[in-house]
Amino acid sequence: MAGIKTLTMIKPGAVKNRHIGAILNMIEEAGFRISAIKSVKLTTEDAEEFYAEHKERPFFGDLVDFMSSGPIVAAILLKDDAVADFRKLIGSTDPQEAEEGTIRKTFAISKSKNAIHGSDSDESAERESTFFFSKKEWLEKHP
Ligand code: RTP
Ligand code: MG
Repeated sequence: MAGIKTLTMIKPGAVKNRHIGAILNMIEEAGFRISAIKSVKLTTEDAEEFYAEHKERPFFGDLVDFMSSGPIVAAILLKDDAVADFRKLIGSTDPQEAEEGTIRKTFAISKSKNAIHGSDSDESAERESTFFFSKKEWLEKHP
């Protein structure tokens, strides 16, 4: 059975352009509950660890530089089928390929500055949630 949890980051470009409120509104309107949330600035080492699966990819250096360039907003979101439904809400990695109405289509600057992250599996959602939050900081079910 698909899990109810996913981890998102509003990326530095969207934070800088003051889209936090609009993006959180789209997330809640789509039926997700915000179970934990914080604003943080990742170090280079943090970004390297978070995106370690991509370390051999040609874009890794640019990705790490961008993700550590300014504050991000990390949040744990709850909904049935959270991972798949959130990936639908954010749209394709490249905003030019993203559907109308998706968060990336609305707010991304480019493929590398694409406004928002969403976990790609339940396993990633668990790993990424504990990357940002202690287990005391989120509820697995919303009251
Ligand atoms: P994310 O992990 O941030 O939610 O993005 P994603 O699953 O849609 O895409 P992924 O393949 O995991 O790539 C992670 C991030 O790396 C940047 N990227 N740049 N220039 C490029 O060809 C390229 N490819 C990927 C994007 O910022 C992407 O979100
Ligand atoms: Mg990914």
